[in-house]
Amino acid sequence: MSDIWAVVPAAGSGSRMAQSQSKQYLPLYGRSLLDWSVAALLIYRELRSCVVALPEADLSCEQPGFLKDARVRLCAGGASRAESVAAGVAALPAGDEDWVLVHDAARPCLAREELEALIKAVTDSGVGGLLATPVTDTLKRAGKNDRVSATLDRETIWSAQTPQMFRVGELRTALRQAQATGVTVTDEASAMEAAGFPVQLVRGAASNLKVTYGPDMQLAAFWLKELYPQLTDPAGRQT
Ligand code: CTP
Ligand code: MG
Repeated sequence: MSDIWAVVPAAGSGSRMAQSQSKQYLPLYGRSLLDWSVAALLIYRELRSCVVALPEADLSCEQPGFLKDARVRLCAGGASRAESVAAGVAALPAGDEDWVLVHDAARPCLAREELEALIKAVTDSGVGGLLATPVTDTLKRAGKNDRVSATLDRETIWSAQTPQMFRVGELRTALRQAQATGVTVTDEASAMEAAGFPVQLVRGAASNLKVTYGPDMQLAAFWLKELYPQLTDPAGRQT
């Protein structure tokens, strides 16, 4: 039986949020985005442990909330998301056949149902995969001076989310190859695809948004209230 582990890349600075505090530490209902994102993974009782990749300078700081959980370990992240993920995967005491869930610190609104759907789809089939949603907008390819050069067939286009779940050994190989060949990977799936591994899409939900720009905080607040009414109610909130 393969164990399931997690890595949370949280070593970015959130430059697009344009706030003095790094994005992963911004608070919603008394918890940081990072804390919500880690908590959403720890809901899965069989998770062996979760490595959180933080900016190196933050490792010596006192950690609040779920980062103090016995299943959470910290490591230093890198200069890119892919480097932070690679550092987190390297820090896992996991076997090659084990599974690892990689989940962005910037996605605090992951629901238990979607996490369980991903784990079930991947462990039932043995094929790694990711949560994703089919796009709903009509898609245009931009040409010179923002003139439309084509309309794309949206039937085949999905937006990638996290968590993404792969065999530890295969992900290590894929990340190493991407680094060696200089391929830019913005998620684990693209490293796996480039290395020739099959990747499946598992239908997720729009609520699992990535907080990227300022107004995304309001959307995340809305979805957290929907998903966790008790934890977001000031009267019943636990810290
Ligand atoms: N991340 C990381 N290490 C980096 C860069 C990003 O661990 N060197 C993490 C972020 O902390 C975030 C996730 O990767 O949880 C997704 O990245 P993104 O949303 O782009 O966050 P930032 O890089 O922090 O934001 P920005 O690109 O706006 O600077
Ligand atoms: Mg970034």
